[in-house]
Amino acid sequence: NYGLNDAAKAAGKLWFGTALDVPGTGEAQDPYYIAEFDNIHDFGEATPANIMKYEFTEPEAGVFDYTGAEEFFTAAAGKAVRCHNLIWANELPTFITNPTVNWTNATLTAALRRHVTTLVEHFGNRCYSWDVVNEAFSDSPAGAYAANIWYDTIGPAYVVEAFQAASDAVRANGLATKLYYNDYNIEFLGNKSYAAQALVKDLQNRNIQIDGVGLESHFIAGETPSKAAQQANMEAFTALGVDVVVTELDVRLNLPPTVATEAQQVVDYYNTVAACVAVPRCVGIVVWDFDDTYSWIPGTFPGQGYGDLFLQPNGANTPLVRKAPYD
Ligand code: XIL
Repeated sequence: NYGLNDAAKAAGKLWFGTALDVPGTGEAQDPYYIAEFDNIHDFGEATPANIMKYEFTEPEAGVFDYTGAEEFFTAAAGKAVRCHNLIWANELPTFITNPTVNWTNATLTAALRRHVTTLVEHFGNRCYSWDVVNEAFSDSPAGAYAANIWYDTIGPAYVVEAFQAASDAVRANGLATKLYYNDYNIEFLGNKSYAAQALVKDLQNRNIQIDGVGLESHFIAGETPSKAAQQANMEAFTALGVDVVVTELDVRLNLPPTVATEAQQVVDYYNTVAACVAVPRCVGIVVWDFDDTYSWIPGTFPGQGYGDLFLQPNGANTPLVRKAPYD
């Protein structure tokens, strides 16, 4: 019964985890999927794929809805939970995105602070961590702030405001919840990773709590940074005194898979896991779901898929198989 989570713990990590889309409409209703999710030997952590995002937790201004989140916590019973996420450009309620609402810096900052404070306080220590701000930086030019309603209205201060509110809530309530910045294309040294490093230092200089950085790690087979490159990047963060977690690992490839691309995928998964194992403050690894049947990849990257650790050869609601042995 020895599995991924057992191996992670044997390597000194907190857990090996997965995203779970509960309530959602698919995987939560698949008994074979759920049986594997429940296997504590493989998964000691769960991250809500969607249900704790802004549009679900605060659908109307100042009206908070925790019913879906509670379903998630019920499904994830016995596992650590990385709560995801507080402030992001996507999956926002219409009261935020509605262009007829003429947000000002002051009014949108107040809305942001209310959302962050309310959620951090409401869930408290049930959240091992919160991804406080998600994907604030752009790819072009790499490391610039990405344009979104928060940045366009508040400027870069929105990131500081979100962390300040989360930090204040954690400290005022004596919570153990860790506060993370989470992003993609920061898994290797480069301008986007440097921007995230600068953010960590800026928050530290302001005495705002920042405990870790989430390295999403949505990779493409054959285009994945080497183990050495990932390790050096992780060490650049941990040298600042923060933890890192591989938060959303998957390795997609062009469909259909070939013998060569499948073999490459195994190497790519290994490189990320081995880099984390080599860095003491890389405290855990989370895959962005584990079953191709329910992966977000084909819907987001047409023509690509096969990115997860398991598949269902006979489709939904049939037994799962592992793609490769995990030793
Ligand atoms: C994705 C979910 O998997 C999808 O179901 C949803 O439609 C969009 O969001 N980076 C993140 C995650 O931080 O929240 C995203 O999750 C994937 C990219």
